[in-house]
This record gives sequence, C-alpha cells and structure tokens, in this order.
Amino acid sequence: NTVKIRVPGTTANCGPGFDAVGIACTIYNELELTLSPQAGISLEVAGEGAGAIPADGSNVAIKAVQMVLNKTGRHYPGIALKMVNNIPLARGLGSSAAAIVGGLVAANELTGCQLSKQEILDMATSIEGHPDNVAPAIFGGITVSIMDSGSAKYLRFLPPKDFSMVAVIPEFNLSTKAARRVLPESVPFADAVFNVSRSALLVGALCTGEFKLLLHALEDRLHQPYREKLIPGMAQVLTAARQAGALGAALSGAGPCLLAFTDGDSDEVGQVMVKAFNIHKIKARYQLLNID
Ligand code: HSE
Repeated sequence: NTVKIRVPGTTANCGPGFDAVGIACTIYNELELTLSPQAGISLEVAGEGAGAIPADGSNVAIKAVQMVLNKTGRHYPGIALKMVNNIPLARGLGSSAAAIVGGLVAANELTGCQLSKQEILDMATSIEGHPDNVAPAIFGGITVSIMDSGSAKYLRFLPPKDFSMVAVIPEFNLSTKAARRVLPESVPFADAVFNVSRSALLVGALCTGEFKLLLHALEDRLHQPYREKLIPGMAQVLTAARQAGALGAALSGAGPCLLAFTDGDSDEVGQVMVKAFNIHKIKARYQLLNID
C-alpha cells in the first residue's frame, strides 16, 4: 500500500498581498507514503533539507499525516514517509506548505479520500498559520485566500497569458517565525491604503494580463520595509531586477528569496539579481520558474 504525490513550491504575498495572494511554481517536492510494520510514523528525507529536517512529532509532514488519521479515525501499525525535496528549505518558496499539503493529501488518499479539498485547505492552514502558501500548493495556479472564523475562502485563477518568474535564492535561510517577529503591531492608515490599492491592482493585473501594471502592483508597505534588515541587499536586488527589464519584483513569502516577474530575458534578470546580492557579500543562485 503505497501513495506517491508531488506538491509544488509556492511564492506568497507577491508584494502587497500579505497572507492572501500566492502562486504555485514549477518546482516540486515528492512524497511517498507506505504502510510499515514498524510502529509510528517514520520519515526519510533526500534532497533539500536532508539531515536538517526533524523526523519527530515536530515535523509538519508527520503532524499533517497524524491529523488526517485522527480526523478519519483510521489506525495503521506504522507509516513510512519518504520525501524527495527540490524546494529550498526556509527560503520563502513554500517548503513547509509543501510538506504539510503533501502529508495531508497522501494520508487522505491512504484513508480512502474522505476529506474534501476545502477540509484539506482548512487543516493545512491550521498547521501553517496562514493560507497563502498552502492554497496554491493544493489548487495550483494563482490563489487569493482569506480567513473567516477558522475557515479559508479562496479564489483560484490562471492569467490569460503567461509570465515567467525568476527566484533568486540566497545561501542563508530565514524562518517565517523570525521574519514575522519584525512586523509591527499596527501600521499607519496611509500605508494600509497604499497596500489595499496595490493588492487590488495586483489581482486585477494578474487576471487581465495587464502585466505592465505589475511594476506598481508589486509595491508593499506592510511587510517588506520591516523585513529588509533581515536580508542584506534586498532593496538593491529588487531595483536591479526592475532595471534589467523585469515586470516587477518582490520578496517571496517571508524571504529571503527575491522574486522577479518577467516577460523577456529571464536569465539576464537572474544574473543581475545574483550580482547585486554578491555586492553585499551574499552568495545566491537563481532559478527560472513558471506558474504550476
Ligand atoms: N504570508 C507569510 C508571511 C508567508 O509573509 O509571513 C510566509 O510563509
């Protein structure tokens, strides 16, 4: 009895859409779930995070599997999980969301697909704390999600034409927890208005294919200005991307990855962004992505 699934990495926020907007990307983690005679849930990790990901009850994939077993009331002697990870760990490309969604979806298949996608979304959000990475990891495409009394409501769509993305991945990692700790309790009203207008424009631009609007639609005053101090060179890397012809650029999720949207020479944008990081003594690489 083996279940094999593949979950995409995701980029959340997309500038102004803090905790709401997310995009599934063409980078994937694989998860294999097998029944085992050995008691408990074991975990083996290959690829990104091998040796660094805990294999105990604190692991979010194990938590996710356990949550499905509790909810469905099913019991098995033991379960073995095998992950093959391509999504870089703790960089802002949805590695934890992929682990959570992987665990939930695989365990749901094992137990006979009793849970709906909405239930999986709500369970995933309860583990992750916010819906913006888990929603696109489940549904693919672009999602806008909101929380309403513990349940997520979402819109999922694809743009009418394609754009490309360039993720620039610095060598250091940053936990979402640390990146949320620097956020203020409240923001000036003018900054809230700034973000409301940009995030409305962002969703409109993505829905209609008016990608020239992304330059302004990706601006943000809710989280990026506060997170800048955690990511040396962030402002300069984003500026370099725009100057190299990107449609726009933003912090990916809680960072430290920076993401540019392109409709031209993506390699050139990636190279320029890496160089700008290097000037700040940060080693980085870039990866070209599309919408999953
Ligand atoms: N919206 C979240 C944040 C995404 O920015 O903290 C990180 O996983």
